[in-house]
Amino acid sequence: MVSDSPTLAITSRVKQLKKQGHDVVNFAAGEPDFDTPQAIKQAAIDAINKGFTKYTPTAGIIELREAVAEKFKKDNSLDYPADQIVISCGAKHSIYNVVLAIAETDDEIIIPSPYWVSYSEMAILAEAKPVFLETSAQEDFKINPKKLEKIITKKTKALILNSPSNPTGVVYKRKELEEIAKICLSKKIYVISDEIYEKLLYDNEEFISIGSLGKDIFPQVITVNGVSKTFSMTGWRIGYLGASKDVASAVKKIQDHSTSNPTSISQMAALAALKMPEAEVVKMRDEFQKRRDYMIQRLDKIPQLKYIRPQGAFYIFCDIAKTKMNSNTFAEKLLDETKVALIPGKGFGRDDFVRLSFATDLESIKKGMDRIEKWLRQ
Ligand SMILES: Cc1ncc(COP(=O)(O)O)c(C=O)c1O
Repeated sequence: MVSDSPTLAITSRVKQLKKQGHDVVNFAAGEPDFDTPQAIKQAAIDAINKGFTKYTPTAGIIELREAVAEKFKKDNSLDYPADQIVISCGAKHSIYNVVLAIAETDDEIIIPSPYWVSYSEMAILAEAKPVFLETSAQEDFKINPKKLEKIITKKTKALILNSPSNPTGVVYKRKELEEIAKICLSKKIYVISDEIYEKLLYDNEEFISIGSLGKDIFPQVITVNGVSKTFSMTGWRIGYLGASKDVASAVKKIQDHSTSNPTSISQMAALAALKMPEAEVVKMRDEFQKRRDYMIQRLDKIPQLKYIRPQGAFYIFCDIAKTKMNSNTFAEKLLDETKVALIPGKGFGRDDFVRLSFATDLESIKKGMDRIEKWLRQ
């Protein structure tokens, strides 16, 4: 059975508590708290005023697909022609379409655990089977190539790779990706590379797209990205993918008969985002880094919580085993007793962890960390 999204459930509870007048600190957020940059908003307003409000080609307007092709080339050394790019209603939609396109009933999709909550449910919705590849904090929550090789069967269709990762913030290095690519190549399985947090990297960490590692692995990789996290555009719902001709065409067909094109106005906004100077994104990234550094510094003073230092995204995955609470109890009690919201790790595959998001202002982070520290001391 498909589960509710635990992140969306907590987010709506936070909204409800705030509406009732409670002073809630929200460490549950899965989206940047910054406003969408003005130039992007203006492009959408212009689109409306010019009457750009009708159906577009299913895979997205050619200008946007060309801009994505250029982005892939410039940022990721990936050579997708515009006709191998499909624009969808968010990266979530892109990934779901891919799973539907490539997986037959009972095919296996390998999901490294801990994992973003929707991957497993997408596999189930496509009548495929999510197969979890356990990783450990001792291994920095990264895929162990030997374990990956062992878990692949004749039914395996794809590995979902997410770097930087939600919920752990882990970022894969070139060498690690090369080992993974080698295995996926020899076993002839797809890699669905979810690169949505690509631009949110800290400590000068380098971002590598697995599809750029060689001509041989490239056609087996489906590269997914979007504008939600990079440009603070979560509500606009624009994601995109680059894939082989066959996969891109299958995804387009699914979209033809399900959603049709993503919103025309949002496509114009996404086009403006991709054409925007990088400085705006760097400003947001630098602010996230400050917040991460502060949160880490506070966590270092709380003996009950252990964590892996995130190199990307805007989450810290905290080990709560010392508190002897499971993740739902921890999250519920914390919210009830201190009005601090975070996401239980259970939905990410680890009931002994919780996810704290630093996608909120520094003052709120300070207030929330004060409350958590005091609560755990008691
Ligand atoms: C790992 C990961 N992939 C994809 C998405 C979906 O992004 P979008 O808003 O583009 O659908 C999210 C959003 O939380 C995410 O955390």
